[in-house]
Amino acid sequence: MHPFRYHVFVCDQRKPEGQPSCPGHGSQAVIDALRREVAARQLSDSVMVTTCGSLGLCEHGPNLVVYPEGTWYSGLTAADVPELVTEHFQNGRPLARLVRQDERALKQEITETRSRAMAALKARDAAGAIPEELAETVRGYMASRIVLTALELDLFTALARAGSPLGAPAVAAALATDPRATEALLNALVALGLLVKKDGAFANGPLAARFLVAGARDDASVGLKHNLSLWKTWSNLTQAVREGHPPPRGDMDQRGDDWTTPFIAAMHKNAATRAPVVVQAVGVAQGARRLIDIGGGSGAYSIAFAQAHPSLSCDVFDLSTVVPIAARHVAEAGLTERVHTVVGDLRKDAFGTGYDLALLSAICHMLGPEENRDLLKRVFAALGPGGRVVIQDNVMSADKTLPKAGAIFAINMLVGTERGGSYSKEEYTSWLAEAGFGEVRHVSMGGPSDLMVGTRR
Ligand SMILES: C[S@@+](CC[C@H](N)C(=O)[O-])C[C@H]1O[C@@H](n2cnc3c(N)ncnc32)[C@H](O)[C@@H]1O
Ligand code: FES
Repeated sequence: MHPFRYHVFVCDQRKPEGQPSCPGHGSQAVIDALRREVAARQLSDSVMVTTCGSLGLCEHGPNLVVYPEGTWYSGLTAADVPELVTEHFQNGRPLARLVRQDERALKQEITETRSRAMAALKARDAAGAIPEELAETVRGYMASRIVLTALELDLFTALARAGSPLGAPAVAAALATDPRATEALLNALVALGLLVKKDGAFANGPLAARFLVAGARDDASVGLKHNLSLWKTWSNLTQAVREGHPPPRGDMDQRGDDWTTPFIAAMHKNAATRAPVVVQAVGVAQGARRLIDIGGGSGAYSIAFAQAHPSLSCDVFDLSTVVPIAARHVAEAGLTERVHTVVGDLRKDAFGTGYDLALLSAICHMLGPEENRDLLKRVFAALGPGGRVVIQDNVMSADKTLPKAGAIFAINMLVGTERGGSYSKEEYTSWLAEAGFGEVRHVSMGGPSDLMVGTRR
């Protein structure tokens, strides 16, 4: 079967520091150039580019193989890619100067590399060297902190505003920081792939320019700064594990704009792509008129429901510090007629009556089991006959170890809330049944968060 004329496998196998590898020889630049060139020449229907593990020619990378012929290339650079595409994929003639011609020598090199790699692995193991994955997990905070500090200093925005690449002293002057320390930070950001450095001057790479610069079209910097608050709460994890709860801190509505704005921006960014998918998965029953979005945050879900269902009106129920943010997003979406805000406390207030749909998106994880059982009873009372509750959250396996993102998120709740956590399908099912809901079902969304739906019969 040949769904594509050519299938290109480009090695991007990472290796422990000090070992030769394709990424170490610049395979990422080749992969990017190849994808760009294939798309630019409208060859995407005939050439498929896939990354792959080591091809066994690690010293001569970047390496790639083109199938169905089985043509092996070594030592490519991004500059070779246009010629490769012209010759091999357009003219059907492999680019002779980079093709590995001698099949016996090729096989021998692969076999020898494999034996060396196995011997090195055995030697590392015998010497008790820490496996790379374990070391990476333990020091994962380092890369995170580098990016967080750059965000905290608005470094990416400063580089964008400069208009042309800046040397470290100029960046330090713009940020009012120490020149030596700033240079170390800039170099590390280059190593992490967020900045580029040429002739001693730094500029944003494509990812940083798109997502980390204030005012960029896909600017995520405000929401990502919520991680600066999380950094502080996560530092209390050991204490929280010892004592069962984090050190006391103010309620959400007491935390001020510095906390609320990035928090709601982070929620809004997540919801932008997620909300339409949820709307589609939930659907709205014929004749449904009223939705309550409890802890609705930025209003992104209510907006998406209202946009998809012109007969629906929505109430975004949230804290007094948050509803002005929701009201702004609703106004920007031109939906003030049908999407309203309601100030209240979801931990104790009644929600009114006669709703057709109640949404609890990313709410239950903030609360303890008892609080969730109480919340679901009040939600039940707010729905009319046939009304549905939709919970969106991590829905864990019965042993609470999967999905991985949900197990890690439970720690976020351990350090950030009094009694919150990630709950299993079994727990949600029993709470919903206890509140009076029937037809309880789990809707898998293929990501860390799923839906639990119940109906007031
Ligand atoms: C994790 S966010 C989820 C926001 C939104 N539902 C979403 O999925 O994007 C939790 C929301 O619950 C709100 N919230 C927290 N405690 C609340 C309370 N006691 N009463 C009302 N809303 C509350 C927060 O302000 C925030 O908007
Ligand atoms: S790392 Fe690419 S061939 Fe080994």
